[in-house]
Order: sequence, then structure tokens, then C-alpha cells
Amino acid sequence: MFKRFFLLAVSFFLMTSINTINANDHNAGDPAKGKKVFKKCAACHSIAEGAKHKTGPNLWNIYGNKAAAAEGYKYSNWLKGSGIEWNDENLAAWISPKKVKNEKFGKEVKKSKMIFSGLRKPAQIEDVIAYIKTLK
Ligand code: HEC
Repeated sequence: MFKRFFLLAVSFFLMTSINTINANDHNAGDPAKGKKVFKKCAACHSIAEGAKHKTGPNLWNIYGNKAAAAEGYKYSNWLKGSGIEWNDENLAAWISPKKVKNEKFGKEVKKSKMIFSGLRKPAQIEDVIAYIKTLK
């Protein structure tokens, strides 16, 4: 009786941990794929440490930091006053199509200087964020 219960407990544990691993895989995104997606951002953004700002600021070490913190870049007043912290949720909304962006940051977000129509595929958003996270 105890043995059966034990086996049941072990298999339940295995099942739940496998599920968690799968869920994490799905949410984590793939940095290698994200590097390719970043080509869409690279028209305006460098991301290597110490690289020059382009139309947009250098994005080295952006993850987990406050918005508008890169030195030597002239940000919009909107972004400077936004108080945004670049976590998963905010980054995802920032690079999403207008509707999602507005829902997250409000319509005033159009006063920011980043003119980008947004990535439509959720997987691409996850992948590019995974890539950005590696650069710190
Ligand atoms: C057409 C040019 C352009 C493209 C393409 C572009 N951006 Fe931007 N981005 C900007 C500009 C300009 C700003 C500065 C916004 C401001 O000051 O309001 C900015 C700001 C940002 C910021 C905030 C930086 C900070 O220091 O707070 C992040 C994060 C960002 N962009 C990520 C991305 C990602 C990721 C992509 C690709 C999916 C992308 N951008 C595509 C021009 C662009």
C-alpha cells in the first residue's frame, strides 16, 4: 500500500516538473532566433557594449533598467518622464503593434520618438527579448 502511494507520488512529481520545464521553454524564447529578429531593430539600434547610438539609443544592458537611462542620447520628454522599467511585460508591449502599446502605456505613447509598427508574432517578441537579456 505504501509502495503504491510512493510510486504515485513520484510519478505525479515527475509529471508536474516536466510540465514546468515545457512551460518555461515556451515562455523563455530563443536568443539565437531573437538575434535574427533584432535585425529589424538594428536599423535604429546598436546593442554591443559601448557602441554608438543611432536614430535610437544603444540597447546594451537595457533589461531590468529604467527607461531613458543611456548616456549621451537625446530621449523624448515622454520617455524620460515615463518611469518605465524594461522588464518582460513592458518590453513586449513596447515592441508590439499600436493597439497593445496603447493599452499598456496610454495614447500619449505616440509622443515617444520610436516609430516602429511593432512585431506581430508573439514568438518573435519572446525571442528578441531573450536575446536582449543576454546582452548585459
Ligand atoms: C525606426 C527606428 C527604430 C526601430 C526600427 C526600433 N526602434 Fe527602438 N527606439 C527608437 C527611438 C528613436 C527610441 C527613443 C524613444 C524616445 O526617446 O522616445 C527607441 C527606444 C527604444 C527603447 C527604450 C530605450 C531606453 O533607453 O529606454 C527600447 C527598449 C527599444 N527602443 C527597443 C527596440 C526593439 C527591441 C526594436 C526591434 C523590435 C526597436 N526598438 C526598433 C527607434 C527605433
